[in-house]
Amino acid sequence: MVPRIDVLTLFPELVEAVCDSSIIGRALAAGHFELRTHQIRDFADNDYGKVDDTLYGGGTGMLMSCQPIYDCLRAALAGRAVSACEFDPDVPSDDPGSPSDEAGGTTPRLIYMSPKGRVLDQEYIAELAAARHLLILCGHYEGVDERVIEFVGFEEVSIGDYVLTGGELPACVLIDAVARQWPGVLPDSAAWQEESHFSGMLEAKQYTKPQEWQGLTVPEVLLSGHHAQIDRWRYLSGLSETLHKRPDLFVRLNLSREDYAALAEFERERSVEFERSFELERSDELERKAGNPNGKQTSSNSK
Ligand code: ADE
Repeated sequence: MVPRIDVLTLFPELVEAVCDSSIIGRALAAGHFELRTHQIRDFADNDYGKVDDTLYGGGTGMLMSCQPIYDCLRAALAGRAVSACEFDPDVPSDDPGSPSDEAGGTTPRLIYMSPKGRVLDQEYIAELAAARHLLILCGHYEGVDERVIEFVGFEEVSIGDYVLTGGELPACVLIDAVARQWPGVLPDSAAWQEESHFSGMLEAKQYTKPQEWQGLTVPEVLLSGHHAQIDRWRYLSGLSETLHKRPDLFVRLNLSREDYAALAEFERERSVEFERSFELERSDELERKAGNPNGKQTSSNSK
């Protein structure tokens, strides 16, 4: 009973290309979830595969028609042991014996990717991941005829306040964010709970080898092996990142007096460290100038 995502689109190859890559691609290959794409054009009721038309009332561009979308949706859900098709009395609503019932016969969330929708955030992603079966409609051109959205009862989901040329890339964003919450998808299942946004704040600054690069060093506590101190530093670094980079999130954190005091101290230490490295840079510069009074760059000191 692995989670399942169906995508209704005019560009299945676009969704497949993105989702067959990297971590999500490996998770699909390993069977941690199932992705089924459906070509809406295959359901056009004309000989030309025409799935769009001009706008009533005038206006530029073309709008995707109801019929191929609706027929594609019915085919995608046909035989499912779901009651999602309340809008369609022809589709069986409760058939636990259905062979295509891999996702547990749960009602799929019917999603239409749209810039008018509720904007995705980590909380919304968690809610969608809990559903374990999503059906995503991707619009193209000027969008889709409003009647199919209302008739089916699609929930509209946006990935941000800007407009893209189609819903396929937003769908891939949603799939990536949701799937990485499902068991087995991430190599280390605990890791995502420490990431930015999981607890309403950004994660700590992170460093890897070498210990020194371009004169910049890694915070000493991270080399100490002292886990409690490292955890404390990471918490405060996360708070500091949130304060500086996302003050809108910072003001929503429910911090204690102790947290504020510790953060103030952390910020003070950070500015002392900054001053120190700045002074070091300045003394390096003075030294360089003293050894090279004409200020001409040599191959060893040019950066
Ligand atoms: N389709 C076009 N723009 C979009 C957006 N910002 N979010 C979701 N779907 C879209």
